[in-house]
Amino acid sequence: MNDKKFYITTPIYYPSDKLHIGHAYCTVATDAMARYKRLCGYDVMFLTGTDEHGQKIEDKAKEAGVTPKEYVDNIVEGPKGVLDLWKLMNISNDRFIRTTDGYHVSAIQKIFKQMYDNGDIYKGTYKGKYCKPCESFWTESQLVDGKCPDCGRDVVDAEEEAYFFRLSMYADRVRRLLEDTDFLEPRSRVHEMVNNFIKPGLEDLCVSRTSFTWGIPVDFDPGHVVYVWIDALSNYITALGFMNDRYDDYEKYWPADVHFVGKEIVRFHSIIWPAMLMSLGEPLPKKVYGHGWLLLGGGKMSKSKGNIVDPYLLSERYGVDALRFFLLRSFPFGSDGNFTNELLIQTINVDLANDLGNLVSRTTAMAEKYFGGKLPEAKQSAELDKELISLTTGLRARYEEQMERFQFQNALEEVFKVVQRANKYIDENAPWTLAKDMEANGPRLAHVLYNLLETVRVCTVLLTPFMPESCEKIFAQIGAGPDAQTWDSAAQWGVLPAAVSVAKGENLFPRIDLNKELAELDRIQEEAKKAALPAIEIEPQLEEKVDFDTFCKSDFRAVKVKDCQNVKKSDKLLKFTLDDGTGADRQILSGIAKWYKPEELIGKTLVAIVNLPPRKMMGQESQGMLISAVHTEKGEECLHLLMVDDAIPAGAKLC
Ligand code: MSP
Repeated sequence: MNDKKFYITTPIYYPSDKLHIGHAYCTVATDAMARYKRLCGYDVMFLTGTDEHGQKIEDKAKEAGVTPKEYVDNIVEGPKGVLDLWKLMNISNDRFIRTTDGYHVSAIQKIFKQMYDNGDIYKGTYKGKYCKPCESFWTESQLVDGKCPDCGRDVVDAEEEAYFFRLSMYADRVRRLLEDTDFLEPRSRVHEMVNNFIKPGLEDLCVSRTSFTWGIPVDFDPGHVVYVWIDALSNYITALGFMNDRYDDYEKYWPADVHFVGKEIVRFHSIIWPAMLMSLGEPLPKKVYGHGWLLLGGGKMSKSKGNIVDPYLLSERYGVDALRFFLLRSFPFGSDGNFTNELLIQTINVDLANDLGNLVSRTTAMAEKYFGGKLPEAKQSAELDKELISLTTGLRARYEEQMERFQFQNALEEVFKVVQRANKYIDENAPWTLAKDMEANGPRLAHVLYNLLETVRVCTVLLTPFMPESCEKIFAQIGAGPDAQTWDSAAQWGVLPAAVSVAKGENLFPRIDLNKELAELDRIQEEAKKAALPAIEIEPQLEEKVDFDTFCKSDFRAVKVKDCQNVKKSDKLLKFTLDDGTGADRQILSGIAKWYKPEELIGKTLVAIVNLPPRKMMGQESQGMLISAVHTEKGEECLHLLMVDDAIPAGAKLC
């Protein structure tokens, strides 16, 4: 039996819209952590899932004309839904919970009842403010400029009979937990919680609703549904079998080692969740880590910001591993980071193509070129090797220190320092010069390549949690079998066999042409914007009435096009020579060159208003105006000249 256990969770996602790359951020981080712990030999439980109740989902389903369950089923299980996304991103969760799962529903009813029975939940009247999109209740004093302090949107007045949780009673214990222990990290979040929520006074929390039905019913009081956060937070224990018999590993894995959560939901995890567990008499999770947000243009990411943040598009273009790597390499986990396409491409080019990709391909290519892919046993070491070897053998410890603190960026920085040092080692040893005299230098050249392969191996073991598929390919290229891929082996030197066989494979991280790619992404973005525009837009009708006599003053006539030409120096105007039935030609200029070629209009019967005062355009006189129909399609203005039956004689009056 393995007594090294590690239980890690992500927040369970709202299936109210498709997920974007910001949502994937936390799950990728959790996945890297889970893989790292498995690599270290832990028995890992990695839980994720979906949080499917609440008014927002009920409203969205209504809008879509489906039931709430049909709505969430589609976003969770449907094409490009939550499950598909985690599969795409190579997420290795051990369990997936949906809060609509029957075992969870009945466990929540039992949890609610236990807290009611022990007096921590009581019935009262709720008066306050409610933010619909966040599904959060607020007191007047918590609002910021009268708006929701989380999302800045309008709140509404709410008053109804409701159940309350005695959160106020737990204020001191929660405060001590936050201030006196490492329960919540990074530390800056502790000050935020204590100053913003605990010091002003923790009020009892409204934990039931009667104004909508899409929630878990309070079974002993029909009409009430359980507040969605009580339902959602409990997922971390119901998914292990707490108060249900669907699973039976609550004793084994609880308390969780860490809950990874975004900074805006730290409040729920570090105040409400421990208080709930205190009320239930259950152990508290060991840690809550509040990570920062991925921002877009300095603001919060949202689906409405288009497809730049679509993880499907990004992983299709750059590969899943490159995307996973970028997310954890480019931003410190505890702080916000600004996502840009440029940063993504540069990270791929610099770290993956130039540094890692180059190291692997140069090393394997030279092993093939100089030794036919199999290194000879005879080797010759040199003073020059010492620094690389000691840097590499010490890497695991430096990496571990950072990983244990969830500092993924720093852990990767340590690995890449070694990768860069190895590239420098190639230049210092100039294998191409050694290869000029194989008889004299063969053993030294073999040793240089062996040292490089060992360095690549150690780095690859430690990169596996971040880029599992690419690392598997690198192991195959450098001839590293299962024993050379273990955590133990990452702190050892000389694990690859002396006569290791190497096979240069595909280029794992092709370099991207930055400017070309940015232009292409702009084009894709523009197209997506257009596709999102309404198909056809028609100008609204005028409110203002025109009296009949005024209308009758306009003289509309059928006119036949005798000639039509482009106007010199104008890309807009066409010049028409028209038969208007009077016997004299009428000239009209019209700005429609964008839609018609002159020759396609000759002979057509059009409609013109002929009693407008003449006006000059590009130095030529226009005697009237042709009538067109206009509308907007996908953001583009469209125009159609009004053409009438050719049987209508020139000059016929239209009335
Ligand atoms: N359902 C709740 C969580 C309940 S946990 C008991 C929820 N869901 S969510 O879908 O809105 O968000 C899930 C996670 O995604 C949150 O941790 C949130 O911070 C994270 N992110 C959403 N957008 C994000 C970024 N742009 N950047 C980083 N994380 C982001 O909250």
